[in-house]
Amino acid sequence: MERPRRLRSPLLRPLVAEVELSPRHLILPLFVKREGEREEVSSMPGVYRHPIKDLPRLGEEALRAGLGGVILFGVLPEGEKDPLGHGAYAEEGVVQRAIRLLKRELPELLVIADTCLCEYTSHGHCGVVREGPWGFYVDNDATLELLAKTALSQAQAGADVVAPSAMMDGQVRAIRKALDEGGFPHVPILSYAVKYASAFYGPFREAAASAPEFGDRSGYQMDPKAGLWDALREAGLDDQEGADLLMVKPALPYLDVLAALKGRLAKPLFAYQVSGEYAMLKLAALKGYLDERRAVLETLYAIRRAGAQGILTYAALEAARWLKEG
Ligand code: PBG
Repeated sequence: MERPRRLRSPLLRPLVAEVELSPRHLILPLFVKREGEREEVSSMPGVYRHPIKDLPRLGEEALRAGLGGVILFGVLPEGEKDPLGHGAYAEEGVVQRAIRLLKRELPELLVIADTCLCEYTSHGHCGVVREGPWGFYVDNDATLELLAKTALSQAQAGADVVAPSAMMDGQVRAIRKALDEGGFPHVPILSYAVKYASAFYGPFREAAASAPEFGDRSGYQMDPKAGLWDALREAGLDDQEGADLLMVKPALPYLDVLAALKGRLAKPLFAYQVSGEYAMLKLAALKGYLDERRAVLETLYAIRRAGAQGILTYAALEAARWLKEG
């Protein structure tokens, strides 16, 4: 009789286990504000908006935990936002200053900069908003210039990687060109290539105060009901445009997409376990309905099994600790 259980004894299990997960696979997202004290994000217990001055301590923690790196998101007071999101590409912008400090104090820490406008625009959209025949729309090509400026200013500040997340067509090409011409041909692009218009970004928008003031992002982010063709098309385009790393976002609801992309393109795949995924796990754990450690690690193993090389997750530090404890 076929007995799968023969391979599930304590001595055989480790031999047939294939999926590896180490702290080096994990990237920690950090919300950064200019000053003040750290504030907890109410929808994401354990996640904070950190003042720039606290970053070296956090970076050191990330290094000690053996993480793959950190990714920075800027948080601006409402009064400092404007329709064109100048804070995103200001030389003294919050993320630019944070990168400079981190790279000066901890040159061995990989620092990724999220490249988008929504945290800096007064209307909360990821680009330049205009009135059109069907109401407002985001002007793709006008936005490309601002995204390219943002990425270049992040590279100038010392970012090791830039990560465009605005879902504008041609953004990877525009950023690659700006980096190459600006003297940063060696800086790689981690593209949010396959990014769905997802309800699971809700807590992030509270954290970064970046919820759109009107409308939603379905004119530029992907429709969850679109077929796999849309994912193949988006990933293929970013590949052609010169992305170095391709990301799928969110992670858990789109494991099928991740698995379908795996091996199709000659580039490493990443996945973003987003704010809503974190909140679901965290809140259920706080209620005592889930064993947090087992549940979080199970999702991370699932994301690795589906094909992700790297995983962006708010649980990176805890997961690294659990992995070390064994
Ligand atoms: C910026 C951006 C968002 C996230 C990452 N980059 C928000 C959005 O698209 O609305 C979401 C990350 C998360 O939910 O954890 N465009």
